[in-house]
Amino acid sequence: MLPKILIARAIFPEVIAKLAQHFEVTTNQDDVLWSQPELIVKLAGMQGVFTTGGERIDATLLAACPQLRICANMAVGYNNFDLDAMSAAGVLGTNAPDVLTDTTADLGFALLMATARRMAEAERFLRAGLWSGWRFDSFIGAEIHGSTLGILGMGRIGQGLARRGAHGFGMKVIYHNRSRLDAAIEADCRASYVGKEELLRSADHLVLVLPYSAAAHHAIGALELAQMKPTATLVNIARGGIVDDAALAQALRKRTIAAAGLDVFEGEPKVHPDLLTLPNVVLTPHIGSATLPTRLAMANLAADNLIGYLVHKKPLTPLNPAVLSA
Ligand code: GLV
Repeated sequence: MLPKILIARAIFPEVIAKLAQHFEVTTNQDDVLWSQPELIVKLAGMQGVFTTGGERIDATLLAACPQLRICANMAVGYNNFDLDAMSAAGVLGTNAPDVLTDTTADLGFALLMATARRMAEAERFLRAGLWSGWRFDSFIGAEIHGSTLGILGMGRIGQGLARRGAHGFGMKVIYHNRSRLDAAIEADCRASYVGKEELLRSADHLVLVLPYSAAAHHAIGALELAQMKPTATLVNIARGGIVDDAALAQALRKRTIAAAGLDVFEGEPKVHPDLLTLPNVVLTPHIGSATLPTRLAMANLAADNLIGYLVHKKPLTPLNPAVLSA
């Protein structure tokens, strides 16, 4: 009998076809957003689940699904997993790193540029029929080339942003991270390590790329925003909840920072209503990894983790590998 797996959201048909060679597959191609109790019902008798980052896998779900052995996330972030509870239950978690690094760094840079150069605001103005001609001072934005790029969270995506900024735009790159990078990586990224306060004070453009954790909750709140330059741009491509969105809306309204670009939101897909009314914020709906080759690579990696573990006992990107030897 083939092992049973559930694919919790709609996904590429070719990835379903690959999984169907190894498993009895239940799909959700109507893309219904199940509550956790509904997900628990769907998981009855399943050994594996293909998740996409929004499905909460915690002690409650694990206790109700004792036959579950692996949760494979089609996302690099895995804050939907309670990894300690999964390890305690002997359930493997996997994520989808590397395959989205450059695509997400591209989007981070695009959002930085759109925000600093006020592109969304200028486009809305033009579409509204308000453009009566060139003016010396219309839509004056912030310089990007030669400015100081600050990066909070210097993992793979942060390093990708640093390279784009330093090599492509001649930016001075400073970063803060839990631990300092090797000198060789710093040299390759042309990035200097600084304390968080200096990062906040010195960055012309600050991009957040750190993983979400309880410790990172509201890492950028009113106090941190107050330390930034009034001309600064803030970009969040990491996770909602890292920024206190209410405090950010306040700072943007009072212009204590100049502008923000947000791809992720606290409580998304809801967006803080104040952000929706402000001209100096560019909002995108969590599209950091959204290109066809990258999304396909992420889905294939999640599928290969399911096959790797349930069929060959060798997952590709395990998050709690202790489960493998237990
Ligand atoms: C997207 O947000 C991801 O974590 O892959």
